[in-house]
Amino acid sequence: MKKYQASDLEKICTEVLKGYGVKEEYAKTAASVMISANLRGIDSHGVAYLPIYVERIKRGVVDPKAEPEILNETTNTAIVDGKNGLGQVSAVRAMNLAVEKALSANVGLVGVRNSGHFGMVSYYTMVAAKRNCIGLAMTNAPSSVAPFGGMEPLFGTNPLSFAFPVRNKPHIVIDFATSAIARTKLRNMAEEKKEIPEGLALNKDGYPAKTADEGYKGVLLPAAGVKGYGLAIIVEILSAVITGAAFTSQVGGLVDDFTRSQNVGHFLGAISIESFLPMEEYYNRMDQFIETIKKVKPMPGVQEILYPGELEVYNEAIRESDGIPVADSVMEKIRKCMADLNLQLNIEGV
Ligand SMILES: NC(=O)c1ccc[n+]([C@@H]2O[C@H](COP(=O)([O-])OP(=O)(O)OC[C@H]3O[C@@H](n4cnc5c(N)ncnc54)[C@H](O)[C@@H]3O)[C@@H](O)[C@H]2O)c1
Repeated sequence: MKKYQASDLEKICTEVLKGYGVKEEYAKTAASVMISANLRGIDSHGVAYLPIYVERIKRGVVDPKAEPEILNETTNTAIVDGKNGLGQVSAVRAMNLAVEKALSANVGLVGVRNSGHFGMVSYYTMVAAKRNCIGLAMTNAPSSVAPFGGMEPLFGTNPLSFAFPVRNKPHIVIDFATSAIARTKLRNMAEEKKEIPEGLALNKDGYPAKTADEGYKGVLLPAAGVKGYGLAIIVEILSAVITGAAFTSQVGGLVDDFTRSQNVGHFLGAISIESFLPMEEYYNRMDQFIETIKKVKPMPGVQEILYPGELEVYNEAIRESDGIPVADSVMEKIRKCMADLNLQLNIEGV
């Protein structure tokens, strides 16, 4: 495995997407979301998705020319029609709109329909956190997770994120799938022929899957039983039922169905902190809050209690300087995308 500079990978993603008809501004947006995932250590949702987006554009199930359109707008809410373009483009548009509404009217909540996979959810909540808002974001996804007690897939892995700005330290950024394991991670483990512990997935007969492959071919379980099940329902209703997007088994596949669009939905929101308390007071209280977390005695083997978002900023610092490791198998697929376009960018890893 070689390491690549973030700026080089960003250039590749931008140029490849442009080569397939995405306009420069939108290609840069999608590239920025992918690279941010890699920088933060979420390699499952970074540049590895570029060849999949390209394939979906080539097969005509993602429209590279799509322009998101704002529908049903009120002071605090809106619905964005993603027009079946790249999910990153409509989600960034929707979050910017939510932030503008929050800054002028305290809260902004924006739903998105007719969208596609949008990658790492926290990219969008951090947009809000950078502008004195609390950000929230979620998306539904292709059916792969059983409802509690079931053995058939119904929900997507339905991730959600919240971001809370913090002064002079990493923001608190919570971002995870509501399934016991993200599907992309299980797929990667299946490719590596790994075994999995009980509680992540069932095999196709409804019994605990022993290998990632069995689990990937079977059904994923919700995280923490009824709790993840409840969260998956929240995400599905907010992202899809009320936005007009496809829900549960109507959602089109991402990596295993290239015959139709996905029509996933997203839900993005921003809450203006100053509508609750002055920023200075908020930051002081957040400092005190974090101090209470940090003071807890760590269990044996743990050096320091971290808060969500801290590790990711640590990863960013290392990867900004040392480069981003990209699996050879992923780079091979990316180079194929470049070769198909005759793109010669002369980028080598170390
Ligand atoms: N777009 C989609 O359809 C989709 C679907 C599923 C997942 N995803 C993305 O996949 C990524 C991975 O999801 P996941 O479910 O595997 O996440 P995960 O299980 O790795 O959990 C990540 C969360 O745990 C926190 N965390 C990790 N270690 C910590 C520690 N030591 N102390 C405190 N907090 C800690 C992180 O800050 C983060 O908030 C996310 O970015 C998610 O948005 C996207």
